[in-house]
Amino acid sequence: LSGVPGFPLPSIHTQQAYDPQEAYTAKWTRADAMQIKAHSDTSVGAGQNSLPQQLVMPDVPADFPATNPDVWVWDTWTLIDKKATQFSYNGWEVIFCLTADKNAGYGFDDRHTHARIGYFYRRAGIPASRRPTNGGWIYGGHLIPEGAQEQVFAGTTYTITAEWSGSMRLLDPTSNKVSLFYTDMAFNRNAAGQDITPSQAVITQSLGQIHADFNHVWFTGFTKHTPLLRPDGVLYQNGAQNPYYNFRDPFTFEDPKHPGTNYMVFEGNTAGQRGVANCTAEDLGYRANDPHAETVDQVLATGAYYQKASIGLAIAEDSSLSKWKFLPPLISANCVNDQTERPQMYIKDGKYYIFTISHRTTYAAGVDGPDGVYGFVGNGIRSDFQPMNYGSGLMLGNPTDLNEAAGTDYDANPNQNPRAFQSYSHYVMPDGLVESFIDTVEGRRGGALSPTVKVRIRGDASMVDTRYGNNGLGGYGDIAANRADINIVGF
Ligand code: FRU
Repeated sequence: LSGVPGFPLPSIHTQQAYDPQEAYTAKWTRADAMQIKAHSDTSVGAGQNSLPQQLVMPDVPADFPATNPDVWVWDTWTLIDKKATQFSYNGWEVIFCLTADKNAGYGFDDRHTHARIGYFYRRAGIPASRRPTNGGWIYGGHLIPEGAQEQVFAGTTYTITAEWSGSMRLLDPTSNKVSLFYTDMAFNRNAAGQDITPSQAVITQSLGQIHADFNHVWFTGFTKHTPLLRPDGVLYQNGAQNPYYNFRDPFTFEDPKHPGTNYMVFEGNTAGQRGVANCTAEDLGYRANDPHAETVDQVLATGAYYQKASIGLAIAEDSSLSKWKFLPPLISANCVNDQTERPQMYIKDGKYYIFTISHRTTYAAGVDGPDGVYGFVGNGIRSDFQPMNYGSGLMLGNPTDLNEAAGTDYDANPNQNPRAFQSYSHYVMPDGLVESFIDTVEGRRGGALSPTVKVRIRGDASMVDTRYGNNGLGGYGDIAANRADINIVGF
């Protein structure tokens, strides 16, 4: 294997499957992530895209439409079964979004502490070309009755709560019972918005029922909230170890190799005290005698050990999915990146893909990559996962100039590509369709659903399908079901 001149080779990953219960954690290594820079063009003009075009989401137009006039919309998910099949209900497509009130007097960047899970619906089976430009989603309101999710924090001290991402399981396509898995958040903050004590993140289940008639969709239930998992500090880092810990975004599924057993992937961090300089040669992942390898001491001297993301795994201990046990992480990114968010398990052609979203600004010192989707492929739910595309992990990035400093979504670097933060929180749907939300395009803030795009996935490689939609851009918020439930009456 010949690598890119001047760069180390990626780590060797066999894709070999391990027992899901085994204490084997695959590593997304520095040698792997280094392939992103290796394939980035150093000669582009400032503010262009330096990344391989086939891994870059096409430009979102700056005149994008709002999804809804009254609420900002960001992380979005669909109604799925244990195989991530996407269901419509009684002739309606339904999506669940983190929402925040646009009229409440706080800005888009303050949304996280005000996040509420909202739902939207639209008639199923209509092509994007015959829908309103913004996708035509009708806002149904909040899913959870006001304040009901606070029961999880009874007896603790907090000043504000929020509902963060998760997933929605249709428990049985012949009934209307649904199970919400989400991240219940409580913050204890002073008037200046600083934490008095670390935030509490609890992966939580709440059961409800979906209803629909000719005119609308609505939900009942979601009154009882069952805490499922809190980070234990042994397998997953907790707030006592790191006030900036990440623990959230549950996604449940069944493994066809273990029928009847339910698993959950989620965002975590490697357990241990923040700031301990202990990444290893395995975290770096260089091959023996690679002339471009870094030494462990060199890496630790940069402070890269502050970034230690992991993708967690838990196993359900009952059939009602109300009791879960931690298993060791599936992937760690020690000294590589601090956040691997909204992970999902995607099973295709006998291969197991983990897709996750990450940010440029959460990379460790010395490694770099864009905001977007990262992918890993193996032969089972626990594997020596191979990072997609040149061994790098990058699958679908925003147009980004890696030769220029990142800036932020709220304070752009004028020399950076004005679409480096165009989209985030991607979710890969059946057939490789990818939905996400618009963050910032040419300085205009989004809080709206992005145009859907399509990725063609084959083995450990992927590319944006430019024949899909308009040069690769589908309809805004075109989030279609690929299966109808069996309750259809009168449509
Ligand atoms: C991704 C994310 C999720 C979290 C939510 C909070 O966009 O960071 O991990 O659940 O946003 O707003």
